[in-house]
Amino acid sequence: MAPTASGDGARRRPITAPAIRARMVRDGGDPLVMVTAYDAPGARMVADGGADLILVGDSLAMVVLGYDDTLQVTVDDMAHHTAAVARGLASWTPAAEGARKPLIVGDLPWLSYHLGPEDAVRNAAALIRAGAQSVKLEGGAKRVPVIEAIVDAEIPVMGHLGLTPQSMHAMGGFKVQGKETEAALALVQDAKRLEAAGCFALVLEGVPEQVASLVTEAVSIPTIGIGAGAGCDGQVLVFHDLLGLEDRMAPKFVRRYASLRADGVAAIAAYADDVRTGAFPSAAETYHLSDDVAEELRLYG
Ligand code: KIV
Repeated sequence: MAPTASGDGARRRPITAPAIRARMVRDGGDPLVMVTAYDAPGARMVADGGADLILVGDSLAMVVLGYDDTLQVTVDDMAHHTAAVARGLASWTPAAEGARKPLIVGDLPWLSYHLGPEDAVRNAAALIRAGAQSVKLEGGAKRVPVIEAIVDAEIPVMGHLGLTPQSMHAMGGFKVQGKETEAALALVQDAKRLEAAGCFALVLEGVPEQVASLVTEAVSIPTIGIGAGAGCDGQVLVFHDLLGLEDRMAPKFVRRYASLRADGVAAIAAYADDVRTGAFPSAAETYHLSDDVAEELRLYG
């Protein structure tokens, strides 16, 4: 029987890394949509929203675990949350006609691929065993040996260039990259090297739009931008930013599509009020004994 557009069919036809690589965005195909997620309900929301890719990003450190930067998360942390996302999608049944299960990209954290190819392959494998179907790592040409080793182990790799948060100390902070001619051309060269090393896609973060367009034109794999303008083949946003789960100052590239923090705080305040005034729980929200048992118990009262 041919797979249907929903239910089992969508589960049997998940989006794959080769399909992302082959997506003909520049020939009129739809731009790629990637959103981060870190747990099972978040993954199902992102899938129901129709994203092509779910990134279990090391932004986990900042938006979920309360750290000031991404350098604090470990492979174990990333595997724990990747497994939650994978479990969330394992039983996911798409609500929308034609929806397909998104590709899970597990983010390799800082120091998980800096100590040599063997270590990097072992850590990439930990994310695959946790349920990812691909991994992402940050950096340019100097990452080529590590990317080749991971690809050689049959694991699809997504590159990440530009403002790479794991390099925040080396870069002197979270700063837009590629603003001068030489730096912009170096990014183009890095992108070509990453494509040649076997990356199936590239994240471009925090670069001027002209530089992102230059990089996109220089490679045949898709580019997915965040703070990189509209010239990329797709876009990625962090779950908490997109949904307004935080009300802290956001970078200028963030667009909030909901105000879940404000809605959540209002809901919790309403609940607190109902508890304090006795309006919650109501009779309808309460379990009751049968009249007979209630009567018998009254004799003991
Ligand atoms: O960790 C993350 O969320 C990311 C995206 C910002 C691309 O790397």
